[in-house]
Amino acid sequence: MDKVILKTDFNKLKLFKRGKVRDIYDLGEFYLLISTDRISAYDVIMNQGIPGKGKILTKISEFWFDFTKDIIESHFVSTDVGSFPSECRKYAEDLEGRSMLVEKAELIPIECIVRGYITGSGWNDYQKTGQICGIELPKGLVESEKLQEPIFTPSTKAEIGAHDENISSDRAMEIVGEETFNAIKSATINIFKKASDYAFEKGIIIADTKFEFGFYNGKIILIDEVLTPDSSRFWSRESYEKGQAQFSYDKQYVRDYLTSINFNKKPPAPNLPEDVIKNTLLKYKEAQELLTESKP
Ligand SMILES: Nc1ncnc2c1ncn2[C@@H]1O[C@H](COP(=O)(O)OP(=O)(O)OP(=O)(O)O)[C@@H](O)[C@H]1O
Ligand SMILES: [Mg+2]
Repeated sequence: MDKVILKTDFNKLKLFKRGKVRDIYDLGEFYLLISTDRISAYDVIMNQGIPGKGKILTKISEFWFDFTKDIIESHFVSTDVGSFPSECRKYAEDLEGRSMLVEKAELIPIECIVRGYITGSGWNDYQKTGQICGIELPKGLVESEKLQEPIFTPSTKAEIGAHDENISSDRAMEIVGEETFNAIKSATINIFKKASDYAFEKGIIIADTKFEFGFYNGKIILIDEVLTPDSSRFWSRESYEKGQAQFSYDKQYVRDYLTSINFNKKPPAPNLPEDVIKNTLLKYKEAQELLTESKP
């Protein structure tokens, strides 16, 4: 197994911020985005990491940034540590495989969620109201059913420790402005459709996912991570069956364990058993191999 990296302390570099999973340094012209092995569930960061998860996420995102570049430009600059600015050299060993040099963007402050199937909070909302984020859906849908067309269901971007909140398109438009809203909505749907078709061929159903966008030089670009098991619900095409919850590639082992011990979804996090860590890593790895290495 890879060495686990929970947190970086590169004291010769200027730390910009730490997210739940990524540590970001400000290198002047670029940001250095480092995917650690931290894993969060229900927005709580677990004490242990998943060794090598950050490398898997970096590989998957890099793949999709290239795959989607005909739809929209992204923040991607490089993952070649040898070509990073010289002040990074010192940390090359830890950076290898899990870091990306990216353009500095001004965040567009909503999460662009797109759903191709009805599950999770969308399924909960639909059962109560027949809608998701104010979008009226056909009656009689069952859990995990495929929607006729993918739907755009934005949410707010919450600070660490808080939960994101689903919002209507009208509310999202108020926050980001109509023109930006239309641009990120259409990019979101287009990327989702193209990527879902591709993933399906590889045996993975992308049930839903989240994108983030930002402004760079006056243009809207795709930022953050793209279509990873952390930002998406991946299901196995083989075992998919509507009318029930699906086994998911993402944090299913972690969530199941937390449910089994009645975790109250608030810090402090409990310790994860070794087999939960191992199985989680295997699922992340499997998703990465299917998406980025397997032949059609
Ligand atoms: N090119 C970029 N320019 C500016 N900010 C970026 C860029 N790419 C990503 N970010 C921001 O960096 C952070 C990435 O860290 P991370 O994904 O760990 O954060 P998080 O959003 O707290 O967690 P999670 O995504 O797990 O909910 C996010 O806040 C994201 O918006
Ligand atoms: Mg994030």
